[in-house]
Amino acid sequence: MAILVTGGAGYIGSVVVEDLRAKGESVVVLDNLVYGHRAAVDASVPFYDGNIGDKDLVSQILREHEIEACMHFSAFAYVGESVEKPQIYYENNFVQTLHLLDVLIENNVKKIIFSSTCATYGEPQYVPIDEKHPQSPTSPYGWSKFMVERALIDYDAAYGLKYVAPRYFNACGATEKHGEHHALETHLIPLVLQVAQGKREFISIFGNDYSTSDGTAVRDYIHVSDLSQAHILALEYLRRGGESQFVNLGIGGGYSVEEVLEAARKVTGKNIEARIVGRRAGDPSQLVAEAKKAREVLGWNPQFPEIEKIIESAWTWHEKHPNGYD
Ligand SMILES: NC(=O)c1ccc[n+]([C@@H]2O[C@H](COP(=O)([O-])OP(=O)(O)OC[C@H]3O[C@@H](n4cnc5c(N)ncnc54)[C@H](O)[C@@H]3O)[C@@H](O)[C@H]2O)c1
Repeated sequence: MAILVTGGAGYIGSVVVEDLRAKGESVVVLDNLVYGHRAAVDASVPFYDGNIGDKDLVSQILREHEIEACMHFSAFAYVGESVEKPQIYYENNFVQTLHLLDVLIENNVKKIIFSSTCATYGEPQYVPIDEKHPQSPTSPYGWSKFMVERALIDYDAAYGLKYVAPRYFNACGATEKHGEHHALETHLIPLVLQVAQGKREFISIFGNDYSTSDGTAVRDYIHVSDLSQAHILALEYLRRGGESQFVNLGIGGGYSVEEVLEAARKVTGKNIEARIVGRRAGDPSQLVAEAKKAREVLGWNPQFPEIEKIIESAWTWHEKHPNGYD
């Protein structure tokens, strides 16, 4: 039986496809390549270019392959864009996911691992943020993910669809083969590395007057390989008959923007220029996960918690692929 990976040509999905195959799992990828890269998926993996909301196409995939479970990574994930264009976020991330779920349930595929996000929590009321923290997203992106979470709860109750929905904090780093290549880059580490590569003059630091040790914002950075291993454990958990779960995926500690920059200067040996600009509206001072539950429920044990190791892996990939997958 095979695992259907939606968004498998994207950053996180491509790493999970690599790791699933290394474990001997059969994989089928569905991606519309709006943001993904065909070169990020090995040519030997069955690949379907299309939308998750295309019920005919998903039905065809389920006829052509014996699908046991779905790992659902596909989404649009630009918070700022979602504020300007909420319609495409609700349609792509929520409505299309409902179509995907319809076809899975009709075909008796009752295991799903869904990429949720810490953006479903909104402004933190306390840190570290545990899974019981109130959810009040501050963007249509966050709401679109929250609405899928809500649907999963009801679909489990009504149709027996079992899920693990990891809420990722900041995914980063690379494997030897797969790294981060977003057409529109908004994540700190790849942006910092673009400065080191001479593709960008400087990095903007949005605020240095937060109540953190050096005044810059603190985030929980999780290596994409650790994220990927958690998905494989989640699959095994569902195979053992585990109950549906929402779990934070973060390290449970954070690094400030300044600390990330310092680590990047050390790893790359480059003087990465940074300029302080004003705070961005809606940016919390700290986003750090309470990460115990994933360890307890899934038996997850992250291997790359140190920021230097994470940046080193990303730098190696960017040096080897200066134009990403292009
Ligand atoms: N990167 C992070 O730090 C982070 C944090 C929290 C949550 N997430 C979530 O993790 C998932 C993967 O993130 P990523 O960084 O790998 O993003 P990505 O943009 O690299 O990958 C998403 C993939 O989905 C595809 N896609 C989008 N809409 C589709 C559709 N309707 N049908 C078929 N394919 C479609 C895109 O072409 C792309 O290949 C997303 O759901 C994102 O919301 C990511």
